[in-house]
Amino acid sequence: MIVVPGPSSVDLGKRVAGLISAETVDLDYKNFPDGESYLRLSRSVEGEDVVLIHTTYPQQDKRLIELLLITDALKDLGAERVRVVVPYMAYARQDTRFRDGEAVSIRTLLRLVEASGADEFYTVDIHKEATLGAFKIKAKNLYGTEVIGEHLGMMGLKDPYILSPDKGAIMIAKRVAERLGAEYGNFEKTRDRITGAITVRGEAVDVRGKDAVIVDDLISTGGTIANAARLLKEWGAKRVLAACTHPLLVAGASERMREAGVDEVLGTDTVSSPISRISVAPLIAKELR
Ligand code: R5P
Repeated sequence: MIVVPGPSSVDLGKRVAGLISAETVDLDYKNFPDGESYLRLSRSVEGEDVVLIHTTYPQQDKRLIELLLITDALKDLGAERVRVVVPYMAYARQDTRFRDGEAVSIRTLLRLVEASGADEFYTVDIHKEATLGAFKIKAKNLYGTEVIGEHLGMMGLKDPYILSPDKGAIMIAKRVAERLGAEYGNFEKTRDRITGAITVRGEAVDVRGKDAVIVDDLISTGGTIANAARLLKEWGAKRVLAACTHPLLVAGASERMREAGVDEVLGTDTVSSPISRISVAPLIAKELR
């Protein structure tokens, strides 16, 4: 087995390769003056069992094109099997036609990944696991909650209470809570489909004097976490922590969460960010072994 760390996941790819004692194959890549990507494998992959690890953030569109180019090149150059690992799969939130006329983005992208020749597809905490049903090839969602739960378990939290911002993410809260032997619950989040404005509500839970942890698949603007954190502070939480698998953290997210009273934010290295302190490498390595 050989591992090809894509340009967006060089560190993570090498970490995974190290854990499964596999050779890594470098990619030469550069941008043409007009911004197009150039990619070249540094050695033959003929007959090889290849694992490509390439995340799709930041610069989702560019990273997705690179993913398709590399996968197609690997097959075209004679790789026996290509397993594609996309730690963060972009465009996954648009998994339904919420309003008439909308593009169902994730379905289109999964079709393209399959058409590029991938034999198997792996991702971590895709927004909705059921979307992987669009694939005809083997596709699997890995749970980032395993490594997040383990990390939280080592933090010595005081009487933790785990909450997801909405019902859709309740399984994330449940999995983390079960690892910690903690209580869990969820808020109710609504998003205005036109303005994008978020409202987070919920019946008060008894978090007085506790460490409340909000868990979600991703943090983008931090608005969801900030709204939930304000309620938790109102309800008397001693500390409010936020943990996510994919810390996209668009401009201003960290300040927004801090101003709402969030004491600490944690994320994994499915995308790199200043808070990507929890590695999903052991999770991916375990699956590949
Ligand atoms: C949406 O349903 C996701 O699970 C996240 O809750 C959401 O995308 C976070 O976005 P933001 O950080 O901008 O509130």
